[in-house]
Amino acid sequence: MTRSWPFPQDLIEALHRARHVAALTGAGISAESGIPTFRDAQTGLWAKYDPMELATPQALRRNPGLVWSWYEWRRSLVRQAQPNPGHRALVELEKRVPRFTLITQNVDGLHQAAGSHNVIELHGNILRTRCADCGRRVEQWEPPAEGEAPRCSHCGGVLRPDVVFFGEPLPQEAWQRAVEAAEDCDLMLVVGTSAVVEPAASLPRIVFHRGKVLVEVNPQETPLSSLARYRLAGPAGQVLPALVQALDAHRAQKGA
Ligand code: OAD
Repeated sequence: MTRSWPFPQDLIEALHRARHVAALTGAGISAESGIPTFRDAQTGLWAKYDPMELATPQALRRNPGLVWSWYEWRRSLVRQAQPNPGHRALVELEKRVPRFTLITQNVDGLHQAAGSHNVIELHGNILRTRCADCGRRVEQWEPPAEGEAPRCSHCGGVLRPDVVFFGEPLPQEAWQRAVEAAEDCDLMLVVGTSAVVEPAASLPRIVFHRGKVLVEVNPQETPLSSLARYRLAGPAGQVLPALVQALDAHRAQKGA
């Protein structure tokens, strides 16, 4: 693995000067909290499970019980997980810049658990449940029979996690806010995402085409790597705290 820090001085200067910093995070930032990513070979969920059988509206119609139990298993992983130093470093960064927007593809709520405020969830939240038919968010339900999904007490529809399945549109307001942040920010950190799932992957490209600073934090290269002005090759839980530390040192030097 290439160690790209100590960081280039002009990166720290760009962070120091930025009026609006955005971050786009993916499953990699929660990997150090023990939540499996999707596309890492061997350990990624999609290496073991077929997303078309588990994370599509068709799968839900075909086999709601299977979809429900798979998400129950993922929910149990999320409930046991704690934010890691990568999540916490983004909380610290939010305190240090005039405007900070955190856009996440993750459904685990760990950014909010760490204390981040301005979080846009592009793919929903796995800890929320809603009815697939009437759309109501529900908090309680009767336990389902073995192998089945629970039902909505209002309309009898199947309950599902409040996440975006493949083939479904993103929540419109969240998407709109994310595009606005990409169009407005001076610097975007792209952390722990393979940057292959659209439309989320188009957000860093907006930043690139506007000539603003794109920074990738990922131990592996991605389709975005060639567009990033800075590539910080390492785990988010190490790179991000070091980045905040470098910013603090820079500010102390400048007397800020
Ligand atoms: P992926 O699993 O596609 O990518 C995870 C990325 O994190 C990879 O590029 C890894 O190299 C990187 N990574 C692994 N460990 C890391 C660490 N400790 N620090 C930093 N990076 C690390 O996950 P996403 O890009 O988030 O969608 O996937 C996008 C979407 O595809 C998900 O939101 C989900 C999935 O299907 C839906 O469920 C709608």
